[in-house]
Amino acid sequence: MFTADDDEARARSYNAARERYNTTTELIWGAQERLSGQIWDYVAGGTESESSLKRNRMGIDRLALRPRVMRNVLNTDPATEFLGRTQSLPLFLAPVGGLQTIHKGGAVLPARAAREFGLDYMQSSVTEPGMEDVSAAAGDHWLYQLYVFGDFDWIKEHMLRTLDLGVKGFCVTVDSDHYSRRERNLVRHYDARGGNTRGRGDPKWRQEFDWAVFDKMRAVSDIPMMLKGIMAPEDAQLAVEHGVDVIYISNHGGRQLDHGQGTIDVLPEIVQAASGKAKVVIDGGFMRGTDVLKAIIMGADMVAIGKLQAMALGAAGEAGVYRMLEILAEEITIDMKLLGVNSLGELDASYLTPAAPTEAPHVFSTFPLLKYWSGKDQGEM
Ligand SMILES: Cc1cc2nc3c(=O)[nH]c(=O)nc-3n(C[C@H](O)[C@H](O)[C@H](O)COP(=O)(O)O)c2cc1C
Repeated sequence: MFTADDDEARARSYNAARERYNTTTELIWGAQERLSGQIWDYVAGGTESESSLKRNRMGIDRLALRPRVMRNVLNTDPATEFLGRTQSLPLFLAPVGGLQTIHKGGAVLPARAAREFGLDYMQSSVTEPGMEDVSAAAGDHWLYQLYVFGDFDWIKEHMLRTLDLGVKGFCVTVDSDHYSRRERNLVRHYDARGGNTRGRGDPKWRQEFDWAVFDKMRAVSDIPMMLKGIMAPEDAQLAVEHGVDVIYISNHGGRQLDHGQGTIDVLPEIVQAASGKAKVVIDGGFMRGTDVLKAIIMGADMVAIGKLQAMALGAAGEAGVYRMLEILAEEITIDMKLLGVNSLGELDASYLTPAAPTEAPHVFSTFPLLKYWSGKDQGEM
């Protein structure tokens, strides 16, 4: 689908991002510089007191790695298998709505970056452009996430459209029976759903969505089905019973129910409830190679990246997202060597132990250098 000219232009922009951004910290700076205050807060914020958001980070920061040494780690490879296909890293890009407000190319840009990197891209049903363009950009790496805005016939029509376009996994987000009160947006009088032709819908349909509707969906196709927003092992158990292929642990990046648990805190119980019958995916606060490896050590199959993806896109478009993936890949590869393993399969619970966090929990507590940023008011973060 891409011409040689496209490929050259892409290579040039990827190189420019490589020159400019040595770290993910700089991508966050770039986003803060380029995005309006409204969009910055839309991306960075959570609900009400933002305690769910902070607990995501707190959960990750409360774990320390236990390295093994004196092993031959010349052949470190962070690749893995997910839904029957090889992925270059144990991660994919989480669904993010309204990407066209962050960069005018919208979802096509991270979709292309993910595909170029050999990773899956999960398209949000409330982002622009539509599924035809984004599926073409993501190629064999296209996953689709649906917010339920209609009855079963409406859902089925969406499923069939994605199947026609070659979707590799179909996900329903189930933690959003009502849009939450995101105070950063409210004080700025910004409604993220306003500028989005796909983003508004009667919450009645999501509130009615239950296991009986899911069973009807399950019967439509044998495509891998994913439920996003599971936080209780009881629901993970039900998901297994109802034939869910992927349990996607998420608290929506702390953007839906406030005062919930951090996602990594519920990971062990959910892995246990899934008992190998469903894959387990997790997101919420994962922004570093070490973060990703902690989840893999605890039994997650894949980790998804939300905010950092949106910020990398805001900083430098497709090249920014690709650069973010390069940096995460470098971090993960180095960390695996320092842990003493060549493959993810070698990691087990012995590589992790509880520890005191070194920073107060904060959406960006894993980026201490942000403290030295003097270009903008840190209060906005
Ligand atoms: C700006 C933004 C928009 C989002 N839009 C959606 C969406 O449309 N559908 C969805 O299921 N989750 C959405 N999420 C949640 C992400 O898929 C993911 O669960 C969350 O961002 C993970 O946490 P992290 O941001 O700490 O990585 C959004 C998150 C952000 C930051």
